Amino acid sequence: MRQPIHVLGFAGSLRRGSYNRALLQAADALLPDGMTLETFDLSPIPLYNDDVRASGFPTAVQEFRERIKAADALLIATPEYNYSVSGVLKNALDWASRPDANKHVPLKNKPTAIMGASSGMFGTVRAQMHLRQIFVYTDTPLVSQPQVLLANAKDKFDANLHLIDEDSRGFLRGLLERLAALVTAQQAETASAAR
Ligand SMILES: Cc1cc2nc3c(=O)[nH]c(=O)nc-3n(C[C@H](O)[C@H](O)[C@H](O)COP(=O)(O)O)c2cc1C
Repeated sequence: MRQPIHVLGFAGSLRRGSYNRALLQAADALLPDGMTLETFDLSPIPLYNDDVRASGFPTAVQEFRERIKAADALLIATPEYNYSVSGVLKNALDWASRPDANKHVPLKNKPTAIMGASSGMFGTVRAQMHLRQIFVYTDTPLVSQPQVLLANAKDKFDANLHLIDEDSRGFLRGLLERLAALVTAQQAETASAAR
C-alpha cells in the first residue's frame, strides 16, 4: 500500500485571528485520501542573522528545518503585507534556504503549494507572485494552478474562522489534489532514476 503523503503547513501570520492560519485549518478538513497535514507555528523563529547561522542553527530553526526535511511537501498560507509576503514568512524561508554542513537545503526540490487570504480586493496575488520568485532561487517546485486567492477574507470565513465560501473550498481542494499529484510524479521520477 502507498505511504501517506505527509505535508507540513505554515502561515506567515502570527495573530490569533489570522485568516491564513484559518486557511491551513480549512485545508486540514479538505485533504485528499492518503494525505496528512502537520502545522508548524513560526512564532519561535528568531530573526535571521548569518553570524548566528555560522555558529549553528538556533533550536527553533533546526526544528523547522527538520520538519521540512521530514515532510513530503509543503503548504504555505501567505498574508499580503505591502504587496509582498510578511517579514515573518520571508524570515523563516531565509533560514530554510541555507545549506547545512552536508550541503542539504531543506527547500530544494520540496514540492510546495501556496495560498493566501487578505482583507483586500486582490486576495494576496501580489504576495504570491513574490513568493514564486523567492522559490526560483531555492529551486522549489510549485503547484501552479489552481490559485487560492481569498479576497475580502472576512466574507469567506464565519465568526469561528471556518471557511464557509464554497468556491474557495473547491479551489483549496483542487490545490491539495495537485500537490498530491506533484509529490507522486516526483517520487516516480526518483524511483525510475534509481533503477
Ligand atoms: C503591515 C500590513 C500590510 C498590509 N498590506 C496589505 C496589502 O498589501 N494588500 C492587502 O490586500 N492587504 C494588506 N494588509 C491587510 C491584510 O490583508 C490583513 O491584515 C490580513 O488579515 C492579514 O492576514 P492574516 O489575517 O492572516 O493576519 C496589510 C496588513 C498589514 C498589517
